[in-house]
Amino acid sequence: MIGYWEYFCVALLEVFLGLKIVLSGDKINNNERNLIIMNHRTRLDWMFFWCVLFRDSNIATEKIVLKQPLKYVPGAGWAMQAASYIFLKRKWEDDKSYITDILNYLSQINHKSQILIFPEGTDFCPNSSKRSDAFAAKNNLETYKYVLHPRTTGFVYFLQTMRKNKHLDALYDITVAYPDELCSNELSFAFGKRPKTVHFHIDRHLVENLRETDEELTKWCQEKWREKEANLSAFYNETKNFNDERVG
Ligand SMILES: *[C@@H]1O[C@H](CO)[C@@H](O)[C@H](O)[C@H]1NC(C)=O
Ligand SMILES: *[C@@H]1O[C@H](CO)[C@@H](O)[C@H](O)[C@H]1NC(C)=O
Ligand SMILES: *[C@@H]1O[C@H](CO)[C@@H](O)[C@H](O)[C@H]1NC(C)=O
Repeated sequence: MIGYWEYFCVALLEVFLGLKIVLSGDKINNNERNLIIMNHRTRLDWMFFWCVLFRDSNIATEKIVLKQPLKYVPGAGWAMQAASYIFLKRKWEDDKSYITDILNYLSQINHKSQILIFPEGTDFCPNSSKRSDAFAAKNNLETYKYVLHPRTTGFVYFLQTMRKNKHLDALYDITVAYPDELCSNELSFAFGKRPKTVHFHIDRHLVENLRETDEELTKWCQEKWREKEANLSAFYNETKNFNDERVG
């Protein structure tokens, strides 16, 4: 049922609202168990990403990791609960055992999961960007203009748990960019402030090629975010394109 609802959203976006999707990099393999990480530029990135899953993969097996309050949004929130989307309180002691339970469950039922997590933890907006800059200053890191510094604990834990359960084939690292209109939230979307085009760059990493320890994975994730910042800086400043794009 949820899958059909998501197909409906894709149709609404692409057929009725004329959204164009531009892809570059790898394709998502629909026959695998995947963990997907992405930068979080707007509150609705995950909805536009359905258009990508619709092409290459299977929308219905996607589970998105979201903030707890979204669980209670009338209608949409209940539907997401029914689809067992993964809601985090962002209190690690509580979240950790919950994540373990749900990942073990998905592994036991041999679910072809595609789990989407936003390591930035929240969408990019002036306030979150300010917090990210403060974090950077405190930790002697560079400040970013196009992404937030990732919080790696959740991402690393998902990856390690799925790997331990032998329930992971590949990690997809995705960069999303909006060349024309950004829609910062649901309301501006409803009032017509919508992107006409969304670009996705997709990098696929097979699980056997990923680093082993938590520390190495943390470093790796931070490196990828540095790379995203550079790629997005070029994207927004100059080209409004990623390399080697194809129209999706
Ligand atoms: C951003 O932070 C300011 C002050 O800290 C607060 O008044 C405002 O409501 C915040 N805006 C959003 C969108 O959260
Ligand atoms: C950044 O762009 C380069 C060149 O197109 C690409 O190979 C790389 O995968 C991109 N990095 C990320 C994290 O998207
Ligand atoms: C992007 O534009 C800003 C201001 O126009 C400039 O200072 C910066 O060097 C540019 N960055 C790149 C990567 O071209």
